[in-house]
Amino acid sequence: AAVVKHTFHVGNHTVQPLCKETVVVAVNNKLPGPTIRVQEGDTLVVDVYNDSPYNLTIHWHGVFQQLSAWADGTSYVTQCPILPGNKYTYKFNVTGQEGTLWWHAHFSNLRATVYGALIIHPRHSRPYPFSKPHKQVPILLGEWWDANVVEIERTASATGGGPPFSDAYTINGKPGRLYSCAQDTFKMKVIPGKTYLLRIINAALNAELFFKIAGHKFTVVGVDATYTTPYHTDVVVLAPGQTADVLLTADQSPTSSYYMAARPYVSSPLAPFDNTTTVGILQYHHAASKPIMPVMPPFTDTETAHKFYSNITSRLSHKHALIYNRVPQRVDERMFITIGGGLEQCPPNVKCGAPGNTRFSASMNNISFQLPTSLSLLDAHFNGVGGVFTKDFPDNPPLVYDYTNATQAAAFMATEKGTRLKKLAYNSNVEIVLQNTAVLSTESHPMHLHGFNFFVLAQGFGVFNRETDEKKFNVVNPQERNTIAVPVGGWAVIRFKANNPGVWLMHCHVEIHFPWGMATGFLVENGPTPSTTLPPPPRDLPRC
Ligand code: C2O
Ligand code: CU
Repeated sequence: AAVVKHTFHVGNHTVQPLCKETVVVAVNNKLPGPTIRVQEGDTLVVDVYNDSPYNLTIHWHGVFQQLSAWADGTSYVTQCPILPGNKYTYKFNVTGQEGTLWWHAHFSNLRATVYGALIIHPRHSRPYPFSKPHKQVPILLGEWWDANVVEIERTASATGGGPPFSDAYTINGKPGRLYSCAQDTFKMKVIPGKTYLLRIINAALNAELFFKIAGHKFTVVGVDATYTTPYHTDVVVLAPGQTADVLLTADQSPTSSYYMAARPYVSSPLAPFDNTTTVGILQYHHAASKPIMPVMPPFTDTETAHKFYSNITSRLSHKHALIYNRVPQRVDERMFITIGGGLEQCPPNVKCGAPGNTRFSASMNNISFQLPTSLSLLDAHFNGVGGVFTKDFPDNPPLVYDYTNATQAAAFMATEKGTRLKKLAYNSNVEIVLQNTAVLSTESHPMHLHGFNFFVLAQGFGVFNRETDEKKFNVVNPQERNTIAVPVGGWAVIRFKANNPGVWLMHCHVEIHFPWGMATGFLVENGPTPSTTLPPPPRDLPRC
């Protein structure tokens, strides 16, 4: 295994993807930032120089960080931010996973422009579980604002209002030619008959996205850096944080060219949204003048989204299967966690941004998560500093009733703020029912777990019913992910093995839901041996 080194200079960068020149924070003056390629088993070392005017951390989304929690890059969870003018070196092994992940800033809304692909190839001797593609092409779907995204977050958190919706979606940083003033459109050249591996990443802040290419079909072979049973589809659906590896064969008439397009899947009928479409061009030798546009699913097409999300299964056998996790068959910790959002009373003397001078809040088991500001949670845990968090996150919500009934669920308006973690014994098998609740309306929430993959045993609509729904659990080849879009007005059941000591955030990857409080944390205890114990932090770990 090799040591792969990168240097990130993070600083202001002037771009003009649409009509207006904008200063954004970017890595190495690139948008998206550099693609990192490693082989499974390699050590990745990234020197991050923060030359931006903001606090910053870089999170390696989906990387297990086995015994390297200090490198997870989660602001106030595993480290304090890198202050402007400072540097931190992230160093970790990328072991036991192959496929497409990504990296992004984990402070405020900075990940709108501070993000890039992290691609994990098999080790030298090991093949892919599909025939080798002619080429591999990262496709990063993003969301763009002409306004300053840190200001947007500041205003939204201060007033508790929603963020303004985006000005464009992007493919590899480019909005594409359907937008007025669009400067550039992403182009992918293909050779007839060849097969390409698209490594698609939804790096958008808030939008779940449908992705299609006119005239072409996909075979999904991986999600969230896990191999899947090949799944044939003409549409890919990704929630923020998720990735999909899909094979695409250039088997259409080479005298035409074809748009690839992404636009939102909107699960909540209430929220306003950016209803525009980003396009790139799939181009054969002979560039035709006008590409063919794919017919996109309607914005509210939950059926198509659910079909994609729930039909993926993990690939069971692969000749060189060194990297497969096993579905825990036994459960040690059973949790039922409600996830939802609502309105709360505006504090006196504050002008709030949500309807009726209220503000939005969100919670898990009725607790609206608060990040500490004086010390990271991991630091507090490691050094035994009291008063930063408690270890009493509840296994169940305070009330049991019809969570999908908006009137009954009004009790969820009264959330409590807190930094309460769930303590997990080393190697315990955890099962969590994630249940959507409805205060205003329900919507799909992409729940992301740091430090682990989990298996998605089942998902459905309505209220989870153990008696009937347990029969639907797939414990043979369930999909394995780091981010699950819990269906609108529905539930998902996940299992994982808590085999990685540290403090790990679980949160909604809809960016604005996180400061509203849709998060919690797991404190995983050390194992019995030195090789299952979290080492001390690196010397240069930023302190608050
Ligand atoms: Cu992709 Cu907590 O993040
Ligand atoms: Cu959410």
